[in-house]
Amino acid sequence: MAGEERNIKVHIENVKKTYQGRTGEVVALNGVNLDIMDNEFITVVGPSGCGKSTILNIMAGLLEPTSGKIICNGKEVHGTGPDRGVVFQQYALFPWLTVKKNVLFPLQMKGIKGQEAEDIAMKYIKMVDLEKFCDHYPKELSGGMKQRVAIARAYAANPEVLLMDEPFGALDAQTRTQLQQELLETWEKERKTCFFITHDVDEALILGQRVVIMSARPGRIKDIIDVDIPYPRDQETKMSPRFLELKNQIWSQVYHEYLEVRK
Ligand SMILES: Nc1ncnc2c1ncn2[C@@H]1O[C@H](COP(=O)(O)OP(=O)(O)O)[C@@H](O)[C@H]1O
Ligand SMILES: [Mg+2]
Repeated sequence: MAGEERNIKVHIENVKKTYQGRTGEVVALNGVNLDIMDNEFITVVGPSGCGKSTILNIMAGLLEPTSGKIICNGKEVHGTGPDRGVVFQQYALFPWLTVKKNVLFPLQMKGIKGQEAEDIAMKYIKMVDLEKFCDHYPKELSGGMKQRVAIARAYAANPEVLLMDEPFGALDAQTRTQLQQELLETWEKERKTCFFITHDVDEALILGQRVVIMSARPGRIKDIIDVDIPYPRDQETKMSPRFLELKNQIWSQVYHEYLEVRK
């Protein structure tokens, strides 16, 4: 963007990851390089098993790379940290805590207490439209509502980067669409750096400023597509000619990788 200073938020350098599988070594990732800019919304698509979760887990610090490194906010990543918030497909809420207490939890971990913590928690609970459910327990909520709590909690913790691994993957189409819209609105307000994995090309395109396409195993970055569709975006954007053009372009590449997986 002309005239606008943009800093690198996450630097992924030559990351390789091998697992010890039952029948020998599995090379899950090989030579992954990517710079994620401050305030950027990156989405990642690729066939199942191409290493999407592996790269996210390495960024989160839940896994160490076999070689290569990740630098987040100027510091090399080793282990988890409050600078990186993670949302998984399965709503990792504390079942014994209410919605509000779930969202308060990371704030308390950071030493934020009292009214200040309450205010932050309520701001994000409102943002995901769950005010009326503050005192409910996770078991009383639908899947979509639980995932909203997980997103509110991740935002409330105010990490430098949000890492999301197919967060809407388990939801029905309508709820999924609704949460995409909420996430778009939240991102437009806060411009929090997001790294969002999905296997849904529509979802990748409606959310992302850039879509990273990963190749079949061993996972590499095959292509990066600039999504030159302005925000605000909404579900009607999915019908625009440019969206459909980009969708075809991405889909044909992803489909090629699906075929590679089946070989
Ligand atoms: N703990 C593990 N041990 C052995 N192989 C693994 C392990 N975790 C993942 N893999 C393998 O690594 C590859 C990448 O997995 P993953 O990152 O989960 O892919 P994706 O999220 O794209 O579906 C897959 O082939 C998977 O079977
Ligand atoms: Mg995965």
